[in-house]
Amino acid sequence: MSDAKISITFEQDHDRLDALLTSFQQQKRIDFAKAAAAFVEFKSGLQRHIVWEEDVLFPKWEENSGMAEGGPTQVMRTEHRIIGECLEAIHQKVQANNPDSDQEEQRLIDVLKTHNMKEERILYPSIDQVISDQERTELYQAMKEIPEERYRTCCGSERS
Ligand SMILES: [Fe+2]
Ligand SMILES: [Fe+2]
Repeated sequence: MSDAKISITFEQDHDRLDALLTSFQQQKRIDFAKAAAAFVEFKSGLQRHIVWEEDVLFPKWEENSGMAEGGPTQVMRTEHRIIGECLEAIHQKVQANNPDSDQEEQRLIDVLKTHNMKEERILYPSIDQVISDQERTELYQAMKEIPEERYRTCCGSERS
């Protein structure tokens, strides 16, 4: 991974994930297998993103800022649980080859929109401010070392 700012890397990942979800939505009533493949990438990618934040990024910010309990990262962690529930609701429909998950998708999009905005506007810039170049390199290294089993759980891996 590059030495780009945390805010750049994580915003790019938000955009990449948004595009995968859009691709799932656009394909699901045309080519379900193709849509499901996009969903698999989306789900494991979003799970990886959350693990990066909760296991690597947030603890570093909490350590350097001295803010943990009752701080913004606690709010983000709570929202991640809601995101996980929304994701699982869509996952169940995908597993049943049922494209009628519009409501579940909308709920997820609504939660993600404000969640990502808060991270991009407040948390990521703040993280970039409180870490040194050396610490940033260490964060990227720690993200790289997270085992795939932590996030690669989806219908697709069982299917293939
Ligand atoms: Fe997040
Ligand atoms: Fe994020």
